Amino acid sequence: MDSRNPDLKAKKKRIAVIPGDGIGQEVVPQAVKIIQASGADVEMMDFDWGADRYLRDQTTVPPDGFAMLARDFDAILVGAFGDPRVKTNIHAKEILLGMRFKMDLYANVRPVRLLDAALCPLKGVEPKDVDFVVIRENTEGVYTDAGGVFKQGTPDEIATQEDINTHKGVDRIIRYAFRYCGEHTKLDGSPRGKVLMCDKSNAMTHAGGLWQRVFKEVSGDYPQLTAQHMYVDALCMQVVRDPRQFDVIVTNNMFGDIITDLAAGLQGGLGLAASGNIHPGKTSMFEPVHGSAPPIAGKNLANPFGAILTAAMMLRHLGMPKEADSIEAAVLEAVRQKKTTVDIGGALGTREAGEWVARQLQISH
Ligand code: NAI
Ligand code: MG
Repeated sequence: MDSRNPDLKAKKKRIAVIPGDGIGQEVVPQAVKIIQASGADVEMMDFDWGADRYLRDQTTVPPDGFAMLARDFDAILVGAFGDPRVKTNIHAKEILLGMRFKMDLYANVRPVRLLDAALCPLKGVEPKDVDFVVIRENTEGVYTDAGGVFKQGTPDEIATQEDINTHKGVDRIIRYAFRYCGEHTKLDGSPRGKVLMCDKSNAMTHAGGLWQRVFKEVSGDYPQLTAQHMYVDALCMQVVRDPRQFDVIVTNNMFGDIITDLAAGLQGGLGLAASGNIHPGKTSMFEPVHGSAPPIAGKNLANPFGAILTAAMMLRHLGMPKEADSIEAAVLEAVRQKKTTVDIGGALGTREAGEWVARQLQISH
């Protein structure tokens, strides 16, 4: 039963904030500061889920944790999980994959945008040339941990990792991509119009066959949008050769993971990439694409802009486009003026870069 106070829900959106490990603990506080500076009328509550908590009391997710998030919050803002002291990475798996799987956040939406030409390693590529979105299936594929080993440690060892693809899962992510394409514009205001499905159906014939059939069927419901297909290996080459050709890409869990790291390279690195884990109508989770980056953690070096742009994406999802626009504009200004961390050519620390963006927002109010 939904025990939320309906008056409260109508008035103020509630956000659960889970910084997690490593640089998550540095970038998320900057994102929180920026949400406050944007004037967004939200209530935020911190949770200490992560490696420290796990090492202290063995808790990864408290009992009823996911149900509590779904019941009491409108969105979740997450940093990253992964700590060298937890070799099994069990806490990351239970918290992060737990949210994606148990809260059924099936659409991982990862916008790929170039903020400044200087950040792109490709020659002659302008910001308008890199503006596509990868929609990654987030609950199936090879991430379900299906499979096993036999005769482990012997020369006869067999290891299998199953790629799980359900009709329901493939159908809903492809439909999501078409809906997304129809409802969103590019940064310059022009409409989106192409959905490209990426698979490896030439080699992975069973799973690929399902994706192919469903894509064909669903694309028939959207005659106004162009449906395209590419094999994942060809797509990787094309993303580097000419990113202009892409608009909305829909793909499975693993290809989406790989393509978005490649695409982050076009944007200036992982420090700038934002993402949302979405189930329309349910409490969704937003996180920067990067991990906990242990070697730079605690040194005030991490780029907070990925987390800040993630916060903007979350506010837009919660129905606050004005606040989201102003945050994105402030980050763009910071990038243009090189008021950034060192990974993208500036000289500021994590906190100082966050403070610069916060001041910019206060000026623009
Ligand atoms: P990573 O994303 O943490 O780091 C990859 C590289 O990018 C490193 O050189 C790092 O210094 C740099 N980098 C990442 N974010 C940055 C930022 N905001 N500013 C500046 N530089 C940044 O990925 P890696 O090294 O593969 O994994 C480290 C840990 O994070 C592992 O425990 C891994 O399991 C975990 N991880 C967690 C994710 C999550 O929580 N969503 C995603 C990816 C990795
Ligand atoms: Mg990844």
